Amino acid sequence: MLDFKNINKSYTNMTKSNLVLDDASIKINISDINLIIGSSGVGKSTLLNIMGCLIRPEIGTLFCGGKRYDLQKDNMNDFRIRSYSYLFQDFNLLPEFNVYDNLLLPSYINKLNLNETKISIEKYMKYIDIEHLKYVFPNTLSHGEKQRVAMLRSLLGGKKIILADEPTGNLDEINTKLLLELIVNINKEFGYTFVITSHDMNFKKITSNIFKIENKKINKIK
Ligand SMILES: Nc1ncnc2c1ncn2[C@@H]1O[C@H](COP(=O)(O)OP(=O)(O)OP(=O)(O)O)[C@@H](O)[C@H]1O
Ligand SMILES: [Mg+2]
Repeated sequence: MLDFKNINKSYTNMTKSNLVLDDASIKINISDINLIIGSSGVGKSTLLNIMGCLIRPEIGTLFCGGKRYDLQKDNMNDFRIRSYSYLFQDFNLLPEFNVYDNLLLPSYINKLNLNETKISIEKYMKYIDIEHLKYVFPNTLSHGEKQRVAMLRSLLGGKKIILADEPTGNLDEINTKLLLELIVNINKEFGYTFVITSHDMNFKKITSNIFKIENKKINKIK
């Protein structure tokens, strides 16, 4: 369980302060798919970035694994590097590298066993049915293919929690359906935890952990 408590986050532009989260709390179930919804501008990305330790709140605590972290003050680098993989709607594949090399990158960055990663890549590529794209460069892939490769890459860094900000934002209906199925299957088969922000109502079908941001608070609605 990731237990985030009493988060306050505001942005200050010039002279004006914009309070986005006011004493907001959320409990993320490990090994589940967790969905965060809410209107545009309500703070979904902000919350995901705070949970992912990419930005700091003014106030906020994380309880996890018997430890207490002050999200405003503590150095969260170790926790972040150990725990999270990120999946964004613009894919972030490196254009100079082919699909296979893009997939090897997390293993280099995280200094994982290269042979084990190569075995995982073969396994997952078959699973996702993208073996034929192994030596292709990202600029020749379709949106859906890019997102499947990006999803696969997020599994290969040895992290068990995947934070996904609007992962179907650039996808059409068919590719959205494929990605949803993929998330469900990966969650069931390999036990990865997902925390997903979306306004795509299709996501509601695949999870029983739904949080809605409203009036600067987070409510569990399912
Ligand atoms: N870096 C920033 N500096 C100043 N204001 C920001 C910054 N990032 C976000 N905001 C503001 O904070 C609020 C929440 O933004 P956020 O991106 O978290 O919303 P969101 O729910 O993810 O929206 P969307 O569904 O459109 O992606 C918005 O009013 C936005 O303008
Ligand atoms: Mg957003």
